[in-house]
Amino acid sequence: MADLTFGPRGWTPERLGNLAGKTYVITGANAGAGFQAARILLGKGAEVVMLNRSAEKSAAAVKELKQEFGAAAPVRFIRMDLAEQASVRMAAEEVLKTTPRIDALICNAAIAQVPTRKLTPNGFESQLGTNHYGHFTLCGMLFDRIEEAQGRIVVVASLGYNMGLKTIRFDDMNWDEGYGANTAYSQSKLAQMMFAYELQDQVKAAGRNVEVYVCHPGSSATSLISTSGSRTMRFVWWLMTKTPMVQTAEQGAYPEVMCATEEALTEQRALYGPTGAREFVGPVGRGTLNAHAHDKPVMVRLWERSEKDTGFSWGL
Ligand SMILES: NC(=O)c1ccc[n+]([C@@H]2O[C@H](COP(=O)([O-])OP(=O)(O)OC[C@H]3O[C@@H](n4cnc5c(N)ncnc54)[C@H](OP(=O)(O)O)[C@@H]3O)[C@@H](O)[C@H]2O)c1
Repeated sequence: MADLTFGPRGWTPERLGNLAGKTYVITGANAGAGFQAARILLGKGAEVVMLNRSAEKSAAAVKELKQEFGAAAPVRFIRMDLAEQASVRMAAEEVLKTTPRIDALICNAAIAQVPTRKLTPNGFESQLGTNHYGHFTLCGMLFDRIEEAQGRIVVVASLGYNMGLKTIRFDDMNWDEGYGANTAYSQSKLAQMMFAYELQDQVKAAGRNVEVYVCHPGSSATSLISTSGSRTMRFVWWLMTKTPMVQTAEQGAYPEVMCATEEALTEQRALYGPTGAREFVGPVGRGTLNAHAHDKPVMVRLWERSEKDTGFSWGL
């Protein structure tokens, strides 16, 4: 059912005030929803730091944004490959050196529907390694800086968390058996959500000062499937984009921008996104969150496993 907190049209960037003096760090901001989020935030005077994998795509994105907002527009990019823990650590160090304030870290980057099982250089299944383990370490390394600004962490999830196993496969995290492009993607997005909800609990228990929100862009016409999906998936997705069940990439950015900025949001144990048909499209607000995404024993075990696998200890 549509959430009317922000009126019948839902949350839109019209609610944003002047964001001068605020800094947003966005992963995967050279394309899709992340790029549109960068545009919206820059348009309101914020500084944007992009953490992206492709230097070429990033240079083009920065150029396009500077064309729109002027040569002095405060947007820059730091190279980071989420699939490589060493690259994540280096990028985080660079952020800490160059970025004195972080109002929100938006964990937006992802790969999806990777047709065949691949492993990252650290030996993780590619979607889990990129989407979950990469962001796990990044968030941990930037946490103190975010807290200094009483900032937020925004995890961009997916309705796919409902479409896979609905729990974590601890006995075979890397899909040695039974790999499926969709199930493995769903697993990685569920892991990201469980990480976020467990982080909320840990922040609260430790009396720390960072808010953590989880959202998803619904079904949005971005480059997600064309970048990493199979030929069949790309065709199916192309057909879908011709229907009203897919919205624009800009609309897909609204939930993450809302979660990064909106003062009226108070409920963190929630999933924000479009609230129209099947929650794929429509007015942005608070959607449905199914309980398997915050199953406490599974969240705790995933956290411990993630610290062990990445070698990164949060120490909250
Ligand atoms: N579009 C949808 O309908 C939909 C639905 C549900 C959830 N989502 C979620 O929405 C978020 C945004 O996706 P999108 O649809 O906007 O996709 P997109 O257009 O493909 O953008 C994904 C971004 O992630 C970056 N990225 C991919 N691998 C990376 C890596 N290893 N290291 C660093 N950056 C990397 C890409 O940049 P490079 O090419 O430079 O790597 C790109 O900027 C994702 O979390 C996705 O799971 C999207």
